[in-house]
Amino acid sequence: MARKKIIAGNWKMNMTPSQAVALVNELKPLVATEEADVVFCVPAIDIIPAMEAAKGSNIEIGAENMYFEEKGAFTGEISPEMLTDIGVKYVIIGHSERREYFAETDETVNKKVLKAFEHGITPIICCGESLTQREQGVTMDFIRQQIKIAFLGVTAEQAKTAVIAYEPIWAIGTGKTATTEQAQEVCAGIRACIAEIYDAETAEAIRIQYGGSVNPATAPDLFVQADIDGGLVGGASLKADFGKIVNWK
Ligand code: PGA
Repeated sequence: MARKKIIAGNWKMNMTPSQAVALVNELKPLVATEEADVVFCVPAIDIIPAMEAAKGSNIEIGAENMYFEEKGAFTGEISPEMLTDIGVKYVIIGHSERREYFAETDETVNKKVLKAFEHGITPIICCGESLTQREQGVTMDFIRQQIKIAFLGVTAEQAKTAVIAYEPIWAIGTGKTATTEQAQEVCAGIRACIAEIYDAETAEAIRIQYGGSVNPATAPDLFVQADIDGGLVGGASLKADFGKIVNWK
């Protein structure tokens, strides 16, 4: 069965709650489609107002992060139950900005992935190499390690429902999209890695996004690639462009 595309926005630390409502209202008619799952991952404080604004539309509101403990003395963190209580179904885990600025590691990513599945939330698991790693020819080694650790203890049934976002760090927010060949090559490598960890069936089912300066011009060539099942979109998800990316065909 063909995999359904999943196109997700990552708002990062943008949009106040009132701006979030305005943006959802603006984008609602532009992202209407049956062909792809459409997710807006928004700052925690925007989740509830964005959900209210998205009611009756095809937009799912997701989170950008989540902690791996159930509750307790973790000032400033958001628990999985806080997300499920209001109906959140998707959470970005291990974005490179969280790895770089908030000390997330492959191990904390794994803990968060396990917690998300335990609570029935679909993790959008981020991976991607730096420019140095690409230049040194170790891209796939590095990403295979990220993937293998992220999926430790995850069952095949769970893995089939996961989303992986391949985001080369050098392409994020730089306006420098990876070439379709580069993106397809790594996404195919990630699928092969999932097949090694699990089996061919799991690898066929899992959805792999490309992220990094996706825009309406680059989306069509990326999204037709055999192993690219959609995108994780930062900057362009904050404007009408996101509608063009969602309706890329
Ligand atoms: P970008 O961000 O589209 O602005 O490059 C992508 C991401 O960080 O998820």
